[in-house]
Amino acid sequence: MAKTKILIDCDPGHDDAVAILFAARRLDLVGVTTVHGNNTLENTTRNGLAVLELAGIDVPLAAGCDEPLAQRSVGIAAMHGKSGLDGADIKPPKRRPIDTHAVDFIIAMAEKHKGELVVATIGPETNIAMALRREPRLKQWIREITVMGGSITTGNVTPVAEFNIFCDPEAAWAVFESGIPLRMVGLNVTRRTGFDQGDIDRMKASGKKVATVIADLMAFYLERQRTGYGLNVAPMHDVCAVVPYFDASLIEYLHTSAHIELTGTYSRGMTVCDQRNLKSVAATNMRNATPANCLVAVDAKSRALIDLVIGTILEYA
Ligand code: RIB
Ligand code: CA
Repeated sequence: MAKTKILIDCDPGHDDAVAILFAARRLDLVGVTTVHGNNTLENTTRNGLAVLELAGIDVPLAAGCDEPLAQRSVGIAAMHGKSGLDGADIKPPKRRPIDTHAVDFIIAMAEKHKGELVVATIGPETNIAMALRREPRLKQWIREITVMGGSITTGNVTPVAEFNIFCDPEAAWAVFESGIPLRMVGLNVTRRTGFDQGDIDRMKASGKKVATVIADLMAFYLERQRTGYGLNVAPMHDVCAVVPYFDASLIEYLHTSAHIELTGTYSRGMTVCDQRNLKSVAATNMRNATPANCLVAVDAKSRALIDLVIGTILEYA
């Protein structure tokens, strides 16, 4: 079967880096676009190029938006360190981004691969939202948008909001209300799907260049996640947004409505996903039942997913 054509919009970012490596090997990665988020656009762009060069992945990278649509940037994410990709000795990239802006590149790729292209948004969704406004025909051209973002339980950057959504809620709103088929994997699944110390040791022991660099990056990321959130894995949030296009059995979804909260002292940036399994709105007189617009991840075979990812990383030189 032909590999899924995918474009990754990201803010590398430790887990973004692994998502790129996985997609380049297991899917048909047509391009990478970068956005503000974990760090400045300059750093996420440099990090994206460095990962592509580390692994010898020859796909174009276009830089995008450097701030949210309608609020000040929330500031860099401590989880990923000063550079946005701390923990390993990665050569600075020789390559520069292509001259095309990420927004125009997303549109060009969607037009070129009409009906086939999956767009993975694994950082704040500013580039995607801007592309939707610039070219409304994306609603017909894009096959599906797969989002790492939100949660059906707790947030991370606030008690109810996840970082990618919270960084640019208006952009996320534009994506979730676009009518394009959506697949959302949130923290309820991704927080427990990551590399543990044994996985890191296994990649390090391989002695392979890419696996060794990833092991060093993940050791840094695991330490930050352990001290920050008490996690015992380096969570592969972003990888969970791309793996289903290689093995659909690894994540379980609920087809329901998912909307972005834009107001609320305590709730701005929340993904409001309806899990009430309503049988009949009329009979139960429930409020705010809206048509299903999203496949929302509710469970994952985390160990099998991580084993697949490690196996993929170990295939690189
Ligand atoms: O909340 C998790 C998300 O925030 C991931 O995309 C991670 O890379 C960070 O950007
Ligand atoms: Ca990310």
